[in-house]
Amino acid sequence: MAINTNLQVTPLDNVGVEISGFNINEPAGPEVHAELNRLWLEHGILVFRDQDITPENQIEFSRIFGELEIHPLKATTSEEYPELFVLENGVESDKPNTAFYDGEAIVNRLAWHMDLHYTGKPNRGALLRAVIVADEDGLTGFGDLTKAYETLDDATKAKISNIEVAYKFEMQRTKWRFIDNTGYAPGPHSPKTTAEIGFPDFPDSIYPAVVTHPVSAKPVLEVVEQFLDRVIDPEKAGMSNDEADDLLRQLVAHTRKPEFHYWHQWRAGDMVLWDNWSVMHCTTGTKPGVRRLIHRTTIAGGQTLGRQ
Ligand SMILES: [Fe+2]
Repeated sequence: MAINTNLQVTPLDNVGVEISGFNINEPAGPEVHAELNRLWLEHGILVFRDQDITPENQIEFSRIFGELEIHPLKATTSEEYPELFVLENGVESDKPNTAFYDGEAIVNRLAWHMDLHYTGKPNRGALLRAVIVADEDGLTGFGDLTKAYETLDDATKAKISNIEVAYKFEMQRTKWRFIDNTGYAPGPHSPKTTAEIGFPDFPDSIYPAVVTHPVSAKPVLEVVEQFLDRVIDPEKAGMSNDEADDLLRQLVAHTRKPEFHYWHQWRAGDMVLWDNWSVMHCTTGTKPGVRRLIHRTTIAGGQTLGRQ
């Protein structure tokens, strides 16, 4: 029986693909590795279902896609497996991660972002596996910024071809300039400063509004709502500060269009891999007390896409 030589590819809703005909516990040769890498690059989001996943085989599988990174937040990595980043809901650490949305307390809801974007050197990608699945909520959203760029009109493409955008690392969501904060209120333990979560202060990171993906060479709309702050030197592009802000608002609204999004509803045995150089992600969070456990492995970037 030729397992792992016959990958089947099924489109997900809007963007990304599901791969079937793959078993994480069967050996896969270099041809399968190359094909998985090709699919990852082409589609940005790969979903695998019904896998018998352990920390060991998750780490080994992730290495198909590149060298793994040890996440800078040491406290949240597993003692036994430093390559595993543990994301937990329904535990004591819920407190600082709880905020209110339309009056309802939600744990670990995250706006659209790219991991480590604020450093100028985002990681290449990551793989998530749900160890404990929440019965409800807890969706992970993925947004394809290659498609978002492709679907801009020509005038907008021309307008943003030579501008740079700055991101300001800021703990308080109410200070993010381009986020929709309708119905949002911080929780009583929401951190106000980076020091409160043991982070240093990061200088602003600056990216071209259109980044050429280092591997696919495709243009990516490098405009993501979290931490987005301003256009650099808008007058050089013939814009006032207000016009530059309007442009960013228009671009963020574009990235929020559902046609670029895939929402993953977790089941036991799922793995999701995404390309953090072309895909943004977000989470809907869970209600307080709901248990959820995710193991994440991170594929290192090795390249600086922005600057600080
Ligand atoms: Fe993230």
